[in-house]
Amino acid sequence: MENYVLELIDLRKTYPGGVKALNGLTIRVKPGEIYGLIGPNGAGKTTTLKIIAGLLKPDHGVVRICGKSPVKDRVEALKNISYVPENPLVFKNLTVTEFLKFVVGLRSMKWENVKDHVDYLLEGFNLTDKKNKLLIELSRGMIQKVLVTAALIVKPRLLVMDEPMAGMDPEAQYFFKQTVSDLVEKEGVTALISSHLLDMVEKFCTRVGIISKGKLVAEGRIDEIKKMAGREESLEKVFLEIVRG
Ligand SMILES: Nc1ncnc2c1ncn2[C@@H]1O[C@H](COP(=O)(O)OP(=O)(O)O)[C@@H](O)[C@H]1O
Ligand SMILES: [Mg+2]
Repeated sequence: MENYVLELIDLRKTYPGGVKALNGLTIRVKPGEIYGLIGPNGAGKTTTLKIIAGLLKPDHGVVRICGKSPVKDRVEALKNISYVPENPLVFKNLTVTEFLKFVVGLRSMKWENVKDHVDYLLEGFNLTDKKNKLLIELSRGMIQKVLVTAALIVKPRLLVMDEPMAGMDPEAQYFFKQTVSDLVEKEGVTALISSHLLDMVEKFCTRVGIISKGKLVAEGRIDEIKKMAGREESLEKVFLEIVRG
C-alpha cells in the first residue's frame, strides 16, 4: 500500500442553501509533492482546503492526513499540517513578532530554535523593519507574507495553502516559491497549494489537479495534462478547454 501524506476520497459537501460545493472529489498526494489545486472561482478549492484543515466537515467521503482523520482523530491529524487560509483573520493587535511567537507556542516549539529561520524568512519577504509593527498597520500583502512565514517555520508534514501568493509582489512570490521548494527538497515537507494563477502553477508545482464544479476533471504533471489535450500549448489554453468541457 502506498503511503500518502493526504488522501481525499469521494468528498461531497453541500452548503446550507443548497450549493453543491464538492461533488465526489478524490485526490491523493504523495510525500515530496508540490500539488497545485487549480480551478476557476467557485470550483470548490477553498471548501476542500477548509475540510482538510478541520474547519468544515464533509457530508460524505474520507479525509486522511498522514493516515489520520481530521474528523475522528482531530489532534493527531491536524498536528501534521500548517494552514494558510484564504481570508486571513489574524490577531491584528499583536506585533509581527508577538504573532509568530504565539504560533510557535501553539506548536510547543521553542522560539530560540526557530528564531534564525524567522529572521531569514522575514528578511526574504522584506519585512525585517516591520517586526515590531502591529498587524493592523500592515498591508494585505504583508499580512499574507506573515501568515506564510508562520506556516513555514513549523516545517509541517503537509503545508496547506489557499491562494498563498494573493497580494504578494513578484519579489515575494519568487522568494516564496524558492523557500517552499527548499523545504520540500530538504525538510521532508509536502505541499498542497490552491491557485487560479496558472503561470505560477506551471513552473512551480510538481503535479496539478484541475477542479471544476466540485470535481477533479484532470490530474497529472503539467506535461501529462498538456498531452491529454492533444498538443503542446500553454497550460492556460488547456485549462480553459478542460474547464469549459
Ligand atoms: N459558506 C458558504 N455558504 C454557502 N455557499 C458557499 C459558502 N462557501 C462557499 N460557497 C459556495 O461553494 C462553491 C465553492 O466555493 P469555494 O470552495 O470557495 O470555491 P473556490 O475556492 O474554488 O473559489 C461556490 O459556489 C461558493 O459560492
Ligand atoms: Mg477560494
